[in-house]
Amino acid sequence: MKNLQERTALVTGASRGLGPYVARALARQGVNLVLTARSADALEDVAREMTGLGVKAVPIPADITDAAAREALLEQAKTAIGPLDILINNAGMEWVSRYTSMSPEDIETMVRTNLVAPLLLSRLVLPDMRERADGHIVMMSSLGGKKGSPYSATYAATKAGLIEWTSGIREELRGTGVSASVICPGFVTEAGMFAEYHKRAPKMVGETTPEKVADAVIRAIGDDVGEIVVNPGPVKLSAIMNAVSPTFTSWLLRTFGVYEFYRDQADENERSVAVTSNESEDA
Ligand SMILES: NC(=O)c1ccc[n+]([C@@H]2O[C@H](COP(=O)([O-])OP(=O)(O)OC[C@H]3O[C@@H](n4cnc5c(N)ncnc54)[C@H](OP(=O)(O)O)[C@@H]3O)[C@@H](O)[C@H]2O)c1
Repeated sequence: MKNLQERTALVTGASRGLGPYVARALARQGVNLVLTARSADALEDVAREMTGLGVKAVPIPADITDAAAREALLEQAKTAIGPLDILINNAGMEWVSRYTSMSPEDIETMVRTNLVAPLLLSRLVLPDMRERADGHIVMMSSLGGKKGSPYSATYAATKAGLIEWTSGIREELRGTGVSASVICPGFVTEAGMFAEYHKRAPKMVGETTPEKVADAVIRAIGDDVGEIVVNPGPVKLSAIMNAVSPTFTSWLLRTFGVYEFYRDQADENERSVAVTSNESEDA
């Protein structure tokens, strides 16, 4: 999709983190936007900023894990800005902890948010895109989807699912005028779920910025790129290495402290949950 001017896009997860950066990059290309997330006030603020950039920006609060909410969102989006040319499945959640510290409900919520919702939102927009022979879907995956990390196994499973879905659907859509891309950011500084930890990423993995992630989204749509890994340094190679030898790559990541980083974060998160539940028992 070469010219994005006057196109329409739905961006999920637009209330905070990377979403506003992606929305901003699209707005600068002249794309009219529907912005969604659950936090209505934050969405209003982002929409106001986007309108200031000269495009239409309509905030529609919705919980994307709810089937009826997804359908209503798509209906309202169509009424607000017309048929959708672009869907950015950016919303997601992560929780670093031991697998068995997550309740079955926690696991299901993560899978529904990160994997089921983007697949079903795509299922809702694809028939219309196919009919118009025009459209692009972007999945926001993660480097975590390239190589599962300990204490983040469920997250890795959902993000790997997005990568493989995109690989499959791209081929299925080849020649139809509709396409899909997947973006795999590493640890992002300045905004988003990793930035909230206020930590530096392990040296071997490196860090990237929200602007670079947003640029990758624009490039993926404009040049129809199937997959973009947004990360500096040697970790890019580890994805290739992992295809050759997963055991060696695990050893490498373990040796260079990447898995220790996740274990420390899991300990910290589990301690904070214990404190919160003790406080609510005392209250
Ligand atoms: N930040 C990173 O380092 C990084 C690295 C790799 C990949 N990613 C991926 O990038 C995407 C954005 O991450 P982020 O860092 O911006 O995360 P974030 O700061 O935690 O923001 C997550 C966004 O998703 C929305 N969201 C979560 N659950 C939702 C639900 N049930 N219904 C509707 N909206 C929901 C949140 O809005 P509400 O809470 O208002 O609903 C928020 O706008 C995610 O898919 C993430 O996995 C991030």
